[in-house]
Order: sequence, then structure tokens, then C-alpha cells
Amino acid sequence: MRSHYCGDLRSDHIGTDVCVCGWVQSRRDHGGVIFLDVRDRQGIVQIVFDPENQTAFEIAEELRSEFVIRAEGKVRHRGPDQVNPKLPTGEVEVLVATVELLNRSRAIPFKLDEYATAGEDTRLRFRYLDLRRPEMQQKLHIRAAIARETRAFLDNEGFVEIETPTLTKSTPEGARDYLVPSRTQPGQFYALPQSPQLFKQMLMMSGFDRYYQIARCYRDEDLRSDRQPEFTQIDIEASFVDQADVMNVTEQMLRHIFEHAGNVQLDRFPILTYEDALNRYGSDKPDLRNHLELTEIADLVQESEFKVFSGPANDSNGRVAALRAPLGAERLSRKQIDDLVDFVADFGARGLAYIKANSVSAGIEGLQSSILKFLDERTISGIVERCKVEDNDILFIGAGEKGLVNNFMGALRMKIGQEFELLSDGYRACWIVDWPMFELGERGELVPAHHPFTQPNCSREEFANSPSTSKAHAYDVVVNGFELGGGSLRIHDIQMQRAVFDALGIGQEAGVKFGFLLDALEFGCPPHGGIALGLDRLAMILTNSESVRDVIAFPKTQSAACPLSMAPSEVDVAQLRDLRLSVRGPK
Ligand code: AMO
Repeated sequence: MRSHYCGDLRSDHIGTDVCVCGWVQSRRDHGGVIFLDVRDRQGIVQIVFDPENQTAFEIAEELRSEFVIRAEGKVRHRGPDQVNPKLPTGEVEVLVATVELLNRSRAIPFKLDEYATAGEDTRLRFRYLDLRRPEMQQKLHIRAAIARETRAFLDNEGFVEIETPTLTKSTPEGARDYLVPSRTQPGQFYALPQSPQLFKQMLMMSGFDRYYQIARCYRDEDLRSDRQPEFTQIDIEASFVDQADVMNVTEQMLRHIFEHAGNVQLDRFPILTYEDALNRYGSDKPDLRNHLELTEIADLVQESEFKVFSGPANDSNGRVAALRAPLGAERLSRKQIDDLVDFVADFGARGLAYIKANSVSAGIEGLQSSILKFLDERTISGIVERCKVEDNDILFIGAGEKGLVNNFMGALRMKIGQEFELLSDGYRACWIVDWPMFELGERGELVPAHHPFTQPNCSREEFANSPSTSKAHAYDVVVNGFELGGGSLRIHDIQMQRAVFDALGIGQEAGVKFGFLLDALEFGCPPHGGIALGLDRLAMILTNSESVRDVIAFPKTQSAACPLSMAPSEVDVAQLRDLRLSVRGPK
């Protein structure tokens, strides 16, 4: 139907007869001449209707926003005063010879350039219109480039792309399952996979050696800006590898993707231990664009009479951490400081102490704080020195249970970094290693920090003696403060796998749930390991989007609904009868 994309026309085409198709973006009538901006996938071009061409002109008068047209004409220079340097096609226009109206459009519910005021629900309800916006088109093109470059890299490295089932059994990744009832086996359910974890391990047992998949995963969990109920993983597994092998190939792949899909050169990824990350940044996904770090001062306040500090300082589960806000005394008003105290209170902090440094060289006289009276001079100068406080800084101090302090001081570090505009441009990636095998759940029970197939970094005897303190052969990759991916070496020894299930208190249950894995472990399972990266998160980061919803063509809302298709929805009674299901209770 067409000879060129609208957005591809340039001054090289001047004098050429072309035929373009697309949507009317806007119309201007000027001195008896009609100008239309016509948009297609590649961009926008101006087309012009001269009143002397009466047939075309009459059709042009009918055209409105988002009407679909096909126009034939000659490309010409716009004339020196009319060149639009902001448009790639801005030097040229098409003088229309004939035009065909291919389809009309109702008045659209939001102007494409005013989408921001439309509200996300409206945008998602009319997502096909929202996706007409060049910004959204570009994001999905970059997403496609990420998938293409992933395949190009992994194919070249000898990984084999293999699909695993999505009607399957539960794979524990810490969320609720989406269940699918079976018609042929009434009362039985499939689970949609939270990840291909167990199948990829079994592919290693089958000898495929290097596997990957761009895999759709499903998790019924609380949604946030970086989470969707269905999402896509770049899922990788390899045999006869150690931790460094998996980390190296992943890092090379990410550098390849950033370079070829985003034109970004990534630095080598520094490796931090989990403990180091928490101590220095209060987070297991530190944003290294922010150079601010927390400083431990528990040892300096252990002897202090000030119980708010000395309590946690003498408790093995406590922490006293300081954060220097450079020039904070100048940058923050009293009201802003109070707001920061409220900010950390939302994380559960019982308070936030702070010291203003007017003049460090003047010693205690040069400092201002309500806590100075509780601390002796040596302690205060020790803190100021260790935290490298300078004139006009503010030092914030958080004390309490370790996890809580990490949470709110980590968040404070980011808030100050952002408000003081301290974040460097671009992308900063890092590895987090030496994870604990387990975390404590709400009832004090052990829950896997990754998943229960992760290899402990110790012998079976050492693990059995102290499962709760054992470390894992696990690694996460973090970019700009987002957990982009996580992986581990896997257990390939059935006794170790049983020991981990026992530590989790699911020894019996595991035989029923994961009997097939336990069986497979007994038939010559090679040592193996892998990783999965969130493709949606990768696209969100690389396109500087605020949410993964912006890089998914048809995402779900916060309540896991699709305003476009209206899923989820009720089903026919007949369908339920086939499945031997009935719905009870209030909707
Ligand atoms: P994990 O659970 O860490 O590991 O998931 C890997 C990566 O998948 C992405 N991700 C999500 N993205 C969007 N929405 C979600 N709801 C969501 N949940 C996870 C994240 C995350 O880092 N089987 C293991 C991997 C392995 O051990 O090989 C797994 O799934 O970017």
C-alpha cells in the first residue's frame, strides 16, 4: 500500500513520488492551504493540500485526528522559514496528489500528547491508543531489542533455547500460585509457574548443559511499580559450572544487551557481600549511583548512658548507624528535617537523632543537637571523626533492631541522595554475594532467602549443625537500586536437598510436592547453577521508565486487573459445571 514510512522521509527524497499511510496527528489550515501531520511507526511527516487540487482538498477538509489515510504525492523542501529542526522529517513535506480515507475514528478519550492527565486507568482501558504514542512505541522497540540481543548473545555462547510447561505444578518462589482447574481430572489443579526453576534443573539432569528461555512467569503477590502478576524472565541454567562462571556469563550478557539495545557501556560490576551491602547501604539492592554510605558507630556508644543508643549497641541484633548529609545544615530547613523524621517513622523508626555541624574545628561548641547532653565529649568527637563530618553537614543517627535500622537508614540515604541531587547519571550495576540460606519469617520460622534448591556454601554436616546461620552459593545482580536478577548454584546431592527441606520443616511435604525432583537427583545429577533476570525490569531500567507497566504492552493494574479486556471476569455456569466447580460466598 505504501512506498515509504512517514517518519523515514528526508531531504534525499526531494523530488520523489511517494505513497505514505498513517494516522492524522493534527491539522492546521493556513492561508487556504491545509497541513496535516501524519504519523506511523517511524515518526511524523507533514503533508500539504493545495486548494487547486480540489478533490484532495475536499477530502482533507473532512479529516480529523486519528483518521487513517493513504496519500500519494511528491516530496519537496519545506521552504527555509518552515523547516522544523525538532522533527527528523522537518526539512521536507509531501505535496499531496491523491488522498484516500481508509478509516474514521471516534473522538479519542484523551489526546495522545495529553496522556499524562488522562489517568492510568483510562490509558490502560484504551491501551491500543496509548501505545500509538511514539514514546510507548519506542519503549516496546527497545524491549524487543533486549529479547533479540539476549538470544543473539546466548545462542552464540552455546545455550539452547528450550520451552518448559506453563500448566504445571507449584514452583516455590515465595508468592501465591495462580491455579488452573483441570476438566479432565476434576478437583485437580495446575499451577502456573512462578519460574521454570525445577524444569531447568531437570534439563541439566538430561544433559543439555546450557539452557535458556525467555519465560513467562506468574506470581500472585502484592504489586508494586517493579512487579506484575505475569512477567518475563531471561532464565538461564548451566552444568559443571561454579559461581564465577555463571556470574561472568551473565555480566557479559548484560553488557552486550546494554550496548546493543541501549547504546550504553556498563563498567565492570563490583562484587559486594550481602553483609557489606547492608552495613554500607542499608539495603541488599544498593543504588550505587548514590555515593553516600552508612557508618557503624555502635562500638563508640556502647558505654554511653544514653539507652536509645547503648541498648542496640550492646545487642547482637541491634545497630547504631550514622548517615552524613553533606551540607545538610544549609540545605535542610527545620521543617524539612521534621519531614525526614516523619519519613523514617513510616518505616517504623521510633526516632531519628541528628547533629548539626556549624564548625567542626570548634569541637562540641560548634555542634548543635538535642542528644549532645546525653553523650560525653570523647564519644561525640569519635563519631564526628569516624563519619568525616565537615562544616555545615548534618549527621543523622538511627538506632534499634538491625533490620529496622537498615530499612529506614537505607531509605533515608536514598531520599537524601535524590533530594540533594547526588545520584550520578547512567547505570551502576553490582553483584551481591554470600547470601544467608534463610531469613526469618513472620512467625520466626526459616524461609529461603532465594528458594529451597539453593546450594549451601558448607558441608552437609556443617549445614545440619546450624542451618539458620548457613550461607548460600547465591548471587543477585542489582542495577540502579533494582534487583534485576537472582540465581544460585543448586543442590545436586539428594541428602543435602533433604537436609534443606528438613530445615524448612517441609521434609514430609516435599516428598509429595517435589518427589519428581528428588527422584531425578538420584539418577546422576551434574553440579549445576543458573540465574534469572527480570526482562520487564531490564526494559524499565534501560528506558528510564517509572514502572514495568510502561514496558509491557498490556499490563495489569495494582489490583491485577486488565481494564482493557476486563479480566478477570465471571465465567459461565456451564464452564464451572464442566470443571465441577462452584463459586461460594460473597463476591
Ligand atoms: P527470582 O524470584 O529472584 O528468582 O526472580 C528473578 C527475577 O525476576 C524478576 N521478577 C519479577 N519481575 C516483575 N514482576 C514480578 N512479580 C517479578 N518477580 C520476580 C526480578 C527477579 O530478580 N528461579 C529463580 C532464579 C534462579 O535461581 O535461577 C527466580 O525466579 O527481576
